[in-house]
Amino acid sequence: MKTYTTIVKEAKDYDELSKHAAEHVINVVNKKPEATICIAGGDTPKGMINNLVQAKKEGAVDFSQCQFIGLDEWVGLGENDPGSCQHFLYHHLFKPLEIEREQIHVFDARSEELNEECTKMNQLLDSLGGLDIVVLGIGVNGHVGFNEPETGADWKAHVIRLDEKTLQVGQKYFDSSITPPKFGITLGMKQLLHSKEVVVIASGEKKLSAVQQLLYGEVSMEHPASILRYHPSLRVLVDQHSFVKTL
Ligand code: PGA
Repeated sequence: MKTYTTIVKEAKDYDELSKHAAEHVINVVNKKPEATICIAGGDTPKGMINNLVQAKKEGAVDFSQCQFIGLDEWVGLGENDPGSCQHFLYHHLFKPLEIEREQIHVFDARSEELNEECTKMNQLLDSLGGLDIVVLGIGVNGHVGFNEPETGADWKAHVIRLDEKTLQVGQKYFDSSITPPKFGITLGMKQLLHSKEVVVIASGEKKLSAVQQLLYGEVSMEHPASILRYHPSLRVLVDQHSFVKTL
């Protein structure tokens, strides 16, 4: 498969990065009010999400016709569990934006039938014609969503045993008395690659190596984010701490 030139935008700091990322989402929605959107949970998108909420308040964007797709979830957790992706998204994004339940499509990671959840998500995305935009963070191990190192580049939604690094870093989302679940459910790399727009955001020195690998490393599922270089218009928004230019 052919790789393409990636558009890299370097922001001076996290606030500027968040503003740029939000502008990108707003542009997509203003062009296509019924856009299908997927926004990662986690620390990195928080600033962008706050900008989206502010833009909605100011009437600069209207999400009322959009569909929101959940990227991933810890198996066994739902929206009422602090630390879950859905808890984060409901609290920071869906509620402040007044998104209706019918517009929200997330994995039920508490289901006994997780394969069924994957099938439902695959069918839904197929029926919607795929994502219009996905905004992804990047793990220090290069994961995007829960697409972990050494998994399939052509996989759709799936359940996965999480990488040790993911569990170790993921502890930050949970109270210290809670051990993160060992499995995750996630949209697959194939669905991320098929999104019309793909934006990866990274901030801080801790992401430097992951960003370098994404931009300049070998394209391989050893570093899942690198696979996104197959996307014709991948945008990577970084701050100066997470990015060193290499010629
Ligand atoms: P973070 O997570 O935004 O909390 O750093 C990114 C990730 O691990 O996917």
